Amino acid sequence: MKFIPDYHKTQSILHKNCEAPRAYFIPYENREKAEKNRRDDSAYFISMCGEWSFRYYPSVSRIENFNEWGFDISGFDKINVPSNWQLAKGFPYDKPQYTNINYPFPLDPPFTPDDIPCGLYVRDFDFTKEQIRDSDIYINFEGVDSCFYMWINGELAMYSTVSHGTSEAKINDFLVEGVNRFKILVLKWCAGSYLEDQDKWRLSGIFREVYLLRRPKENIRDVFVKAEPIRNYAKGKMTAEIEMRGGGTVEWKLCDARGMKVAGGRQDINGEGVIETELDAPHLWSDEDPYLYTLYLYFNGEYLRFNVGFRKIMLYRGCVLINDATVKAKGVNRHEMDPENGYAVSEAHMLRDLHIMKAHNINMVRTSHYPDDPRFYDMCDRLGFYVVDEADIETHGFEVGGGNRARLSDDPEWEEAYMDRARRLVERDKNHPCVIMWSLGNESGYGCNQKAMSRAIRGRDASRLIHYEGGNTVQNNNVQDTENIDTESHMYPTPEYCAEYLRNKNYTLPLFLCEYCHAMGNGPGDLAAYWEIANKSPRFFGGCVWEFCDHAIKIGESRRRPKYAYGGDFGDKPNDGNFCVDGLVFPDRRIGTGMLEVRNVYSPLLFEKRSAGLVIRSRRYFTDTSDLQVNWKIEQDGKTVSSGSISPILQPGEEKLFPLDFPDGGCVYLDLTVVRRTATDYAQTGSVVSTSCIEISREYKLPEPAKEEPVAVKTALSPDLIAVSCGDLGFTFDKVSGSLTGIIRDGRMLISSAPKVTVWRAPTDNDRIVKGSWYNVGLDRLNYKCYVTKDEYNGAAKAVVSSLFSLGADSLAPAVRGRTTYTVSPDRTLEIRLEADIAESVYTLPRFGIQFAIPSPSEDISYFGYGPYESYADKRLACRMGVFETNEQDNFESYIRPQENGSHFGTLWVKLPGMTLRAADEKGFSFNISRFTPEDLTLAAHDWELKPREDAVINIDAAMSGIGSHSCGPELAERYRISQKHFDFKFIIFFD
Ligand code: GAL
Ligand code: MG
Repeated sequence: MKFIPDYHKTQSILHKNCEAPRAYFIPYENREKAEKNRRDDSAYFISMCGEWSFRYYPSVSRIENFNEWGFDISGFDKINVPSNWQLAKGFPYDKPQYTNINYPFPLDPPFTPDDIPCGLYVRDFDFTKEQIRDSDIYINFEGVDSCFYMWINGELAMYSTVSHGTSEAKINDFLVEGVNRFKILVLKWCAGSYLEDQDKWRLSGIFREVYLLRRPKENIRDVFVKAEPIRNYAKGKMTAEIEMRGGGTVEWKLCDARGMKVAGGRQDINGEGVIETELDAPHLWSDEDPYLYTLYLYFNGEYLRFNVGFRKIMLYRGCVLINDATVKAKGVNRHEMDPENGYAVSEAHMLRDLHIMKAHNINMVRTSHYPDDPRFYDMCDRLGFYVVDEADIETHGFEVGGGNRARLSDDPEWEEAYMDRARRLVERDKNHPCVIMWSLGNESGYGCNQKAMSRAIRGRDASRLIHYEGGNTVQNNNVQDTENIDTESHMYPTPEYCAEYLRNKNYTLPLFLCEYCHAMGNGPGDLAAYWEIANKSPRFFGGCVWEFCDHAIKIGESRRRPKYAYGGDFGDKPNDGNFCVDGLVFPDRRIGTGMLEVRNVYSPLLFEKRSAGLVIRSRRYFTDTSDLQVNWKIEQDGKTVSSGSISPILQPGEEKLFPLDFPDGGCVYLDLTVVRRTATDYAQTGSVVSTSCIEISREYKLPEPAKEEPVAVKTALSPDLIAVSCGDLGFTFDKVSGSLTGIIRDGRMLISSAPKVTVWRAPTDNDRIVKGSWYNVGLDRLNYKCYVTKDEYNGAAKAVVSSLFSLGADSLAPAVRGRTTYTVSPDRTLEIRLEADIAESVYTLPRFGIQFAIPSPSEDISYFGYGPYESYADKRLACRMGVFETNEQDNFESYIRPQENGSHFGTLWVKLPGMTLRAADEKGFSFNISRFTPEDLTLAAHDWELKPREDAVINIDAAMSGIGSHSCGPELAERYRISQKHFDFKFIIFFD
């Protein structure tokens, strides 16, 4: 006899014995509990989370004696619900696999491999006779990957497939008085897995909470609350469409945010009915002012509660309007992922993510690429986020091998499976004011099934917009399908494409970037380029950075130095390596420098320097800026000359000029720090909202060396050494290589390795594509060759050592040819000059400069450049030009996959022990100090493999390539590439 049905083998059986989807709510036994809305406190809510007996089987088709399962579970393991079994402590079952586009199994829909790994969860629950008789008992699974069968006391009670959706079933018929055995068999794959090819760790199990609801037999089955401003905002209309099991009198009450009743009544509803009310001048809901009313419904002993936010979403003249304002989406994509618990994210985890976002001026979340935990939306309502709520559909991998992404999307046989996911999305989340767009899924091509979803959603909920990137003009043969889609959504277009789209009068939909600025590793570097356009164009709705957090799995025990694993580290195949490590925050939610850039580009205030002072413009749409204070500081040559603070009370969109005097001459910068004047849930009073650094002037002159008596420069020659002395300073050069092997002062060595010409940087993730061209011309393995070294006395006062060199890789002509010149002058300075020509075969250079090492300094060193964070030509929105102290440890920005980091753009001087390196002109150089060479970083696959060097490695670069976001985004903008073919670079060292 066969115990496991074949439902999982077909896309036409989706659920057995499941309730129709409904809005998420939890019934409470009294009003107070409904108000607090802690579901665990409800007497009607019975959690089934916690420890279950568990057994993992590598193949569902090879399980024998199924009948006996669950009767003797003494040999079973224990597992926590919710969790992913691949992440159980010590990784005993299966293995985590990270794949992006590729499906983890052969593409043969609806079939999956014969050997489907599965997990059996068993646990006993007690019920009394009264419970079973007097109430209806509903079991709710909020998320199970990929599908599950549930038996109660040996009888099949439920089947459901959809990983990120709620499945609910009434189970009274299966229950007996006393002990009841629940057995849940979760399969890793099923036909539905073809719709879940999202770029994520592929993990399985009961990953969201499971619980019972004990409900009266007659109850409120579903509620659809709508709240909209009407009559030109003079009034607000709320309707609640109610569907009942049975019928009777429903009591209702609408309360404002303070809990005061603003409307209420009683209404007899049988089957279906609508409660309606109108309010005068309702307080509107928006991201800036997420004002919520609460609707309470009481029926048959149950109190239900719903967030009510009055707001209007519409398209008008190619713009997205919320409450009539052309708001901007300052968004991120967020996956549900925790480095230890995988998909099983706790409430605290969700709230922490949202608090981080709010504190960084983010106002939109796209729930990439599936509906999130239902509790997440309540938090978004409260905190003020616009949510793009996405259906659990992605079929990306069908394009592999020249296939068609839209294969299932355009196949009517799969329509019901698509529609089911659309329904489950909309029905569950329809009452949340935060949701402003329904998204039909991700990267699944465009076919009849998305169109059917769109029609159905429009029919059910006309109050929100529909999003689907797969149906944009590019993918839909230049046709804008305004019938089914409401925004022209793109991933990773160039800023130029955006500008061009906005100029094109044929297109009427607003532009929205559902993904942009791929934040993988050190990056993104192109945020400003998009916002320069978006800030000027109301038709540019904004976008969501890809993505909020790094996905990596914590291995090893150390709390202080966690080890993170990415694709391939578990022997998982196919895998996409570290492509999952592409977030603005690290897996432990440590803030990356990319997030600080986001914070500033999403700032509520814009600044512009005019001759009379500073113009501050509010980018808010609904609220004034009385909660913000702008601290300003003017620095000249790294020293503060004036400072103060402004409390700009600006109305939405308003700008004001604040007079400021700027000193003349030198390097003058205006540093602005916006801070909070009031505390919020997510940030304290005085905490930073954003920063900005405006260049007023950058005039730089090399200082005169200290006026001491000129000291004689002497050189002594030996067959292989040139020694130069200048007072208390001694320099040694190696004749064969022409290199400066030593700088000695008072018997102390100031450098521990000779300066050498370097062009290599450890490729960043955003160099992923360009680095091929670097490797092709051997930039990673250049050998230094010196042709001739000359030394001369320049007018008998200076010592000049110059040499001609080339840098070439095996089997290739030299990539670089040039000359280094060291000049020691009687004023106790050393000039290092580097002239070079770059071979035509070199497309771009990673960097161009000089690297040397110094004995590890015992104290912090200082520099005058863009800091305190790492900065690059195109990634320095978070930095300001100033004097900073650092050291070889702190300056290091550790990425999980090691790569170039910690450079400081536009540096004018660096003070190292015993010497100060000064730029020759106002362009400055890029400076770095660390305990690793670029080669060390290149070779390591994980940060924990790195072995710090004893010495401090210093890089002084004439040029450092920009960052961009080419790991998935467009190629680095030309102005940030190093494509020049000639360099003449120098800097001067002054000795203490
Ligand atoms: C997009 C996709 C995301 C993610 C990203 C790259 O194409 O929608 O899911 O794969 O690229 O990190
Ligand atoms: Mg994809």
